Amino acid sequence: MKTIKILTLVGGISSGSVNKKLFEAYKEIVGHVAELTLADISKLPFFSQDIENNPPDSVTSFQDQIRQTEAVFFITPEYNRSLPGVLKNAIDWGSRPYPQNLWKKKPVATIGASIGNIGTFGAQGHLRQILNYLDMSLLNQPEFYMNGSKAFGEKGKLVDEISRKIIQAHWFAFKEWIELHRQNDTGHVQHTVKSQGLEDSPWA
Ligand SMILES: Cc1cc2nc3c(=O)[nH]c(=O)nc-3n(C[C@H](O)[C@H](O)[C@H](O)COP(=O)(O)O)c2cc1C
Repeated sequence: MKTIKILTLVGGISSGSVNKKLFEAYKEIVGHVAELTLADISKLPFFSQDIENNPPDSVTSFQDQIRQTEAVFFITPEYNRSLPGVLKNAIDWGSRPYPQNLWKKKPVATIGASIGNIGTFGAQGHLRQILNYLDMSLLNQPEFYMNGSKAFGEKGKLVDEISRKIIQAHWFAFKEWIELHRQNDTGHVQHTVKSQGLEDSPWA
């Protein structure tokens, strides 16, 4: 079976990020069948239309990563009941310059950890709204909200066995979702409904 390539965007960029630990745990669990690449979104400049047609290398290599990946994975913290700006900034870069939208039709899943019990419900809700608008193919279930305050040990390793099982269950569904999109050699579903009306978009 060919390896599943998944570009992963983690919205926590601090050194001790609990979402980075979640990424590492997920990667360890799925590593035998999938290649999870971490996108370096912290190096992207703030999006501006002044530079969208001639962006720096950090942007062009990020955009190439999106072009080449089979699937996309978002692991997000929650900032003030929404997603962190660094993540939204990266999403915006992948959606431009108009009418380019590199995210379109890619299979995608979202998970996230915070230090609270309803961890990342608000963040993922907003994130999913954006991904739907960008016409990504979103895995709706299972939802995955993690209280990461006690799940990881001193060395950042996952120590909570229930969380491990939840990651495994999520991966089972995500893998199946990605494989469902492998209906031709390009790795994407052949959609019979053509996108239309983009020229009339109010954002053109
Ligand atoms: C600016 C800011 C806003 C936050 N807002 C929320 C929030 O709305 N809900 C929540 O559960 N945690 C919130 N937190 C706490 C985060 O869950 C916690 O800092 C978590 O560790 C962030 O993820 P990270 O470690 O991967 O960066 C906030 C933290 C910051 C710095």
